[in-house]
Amino acid sequence: MKRRVLLAAAAVGIVAAPLGVLAQAYPTKPISIIVPFAAGGPTDALARILGARMSEALGQPVIIDNVAGAGGTIGVNKAAKAAPDGYTVLFAHMGTLAVNIALYKTLPYDSKKDLEPVGLGGTNPMVLVVKKDLPAKNFAEFMAYVKANQKKAQYGMAGIGAASHLGGLMLNGMMKVDVLEIPYKGTAPALNDLVSGQFDYMVDQAVNVLPQIKSGNIRALGVSTLKRLPQLPDVPTIDEAGLKGYEVTIWNGFFVPKGTPKDIITKLNGALVAALSDEKIRVRLTELAVDLPAAKDATPEAMRDQLKASIDKWVPTIKAAGIQPQ
Ligand code: MLT
Repeated sequence: MKRRVLLAAAAVGIVAAPLGVLAQAYPTKPISIIVPFAAGGPTDALARILGARMSEALGQPVIIDNVAGAGGTIGVNKAAKAAPDGYTVLFAHMGTLAVNIALYKTLPYDSKKDLEPVGLGGTNPMVLVVKKDLPAKNFAEFMAYVKANQKKAQYGMAGIGAASHLGGLMLNGMMKVDVLEIPYKGTAPALNDLVSGQFDYMVDQAVNVLPQIKSGNIRALGVSTLKRLPQLPDVPTIDEAGLKGYEVTIWNGFFVPKGTPKDIITKLNGALVAALSDEKIRVRLTELAVDLPAAKDATPEAMRDQLKASIDKWVPTIKAAGIQPQ
């Protein structure tokens, strides 16, 4: 018996020692950040901006790995199953980690059990954008247009459980319309098609659509927050424009596979805090309507609480709206 305990302890020692050593020396090679959507979109943009500064803080290159498809679930699953050694980090949002629990019958990962939070990377308002030549000039006309064109009007989204899916689902549900859904691997390719008039509308994160709105290539008819955005002062909130109670904002955060040593999470969180405290990054992202957390709110614990709060809010909301999982 005694011998068995000793053998077991020795075995634990053999496993634990390299992990401890690994955590102390970390990082000694490039770190991969998995973005579960296409390059050039909102998740990718934030990951690249924050990741570049994190790379400086960590003293190692950070490589963005776009693993897009299935509403972000392929990328999140790859991260959840990766070695817990700090060299695979996930940057994902509320859709792929919380909302889609209500939208899929089964998911290949459990975001609360299979991932460890590192910290919040920013919160984004969304904007209802329409193709330039859609006849509707304001939100009331948009609603009338979509109602008159049911089963013909088309909205773009980045797959089941994507942020743009949630934004569109809530909008269509509250307008009580049945429209065609056009799925993409991210809102970067969707936005290209909206600019060239391939579909009618999309609800996307402001960080992605603001430049195209400013250039006049698409039009904004409503924002998803309860307050107007300083970047679009003339655009009403969807709530004030007619859909009382419509409110969707999207948080993005860093996570690592479960089992990643705490020291490594602390180092990654330190690098995130360095990025969030960088004045140039704050100015740039604030211009794009990204709400960056203060360093004190970017802890792993706060990210864990936020994930839980989003699951607790959105899973019953989606069920109550009568939306069936697929
Ligand atoms: C993206 O990065 O393409 C978006 O976050 C997709 C989405 O969730 O709508």
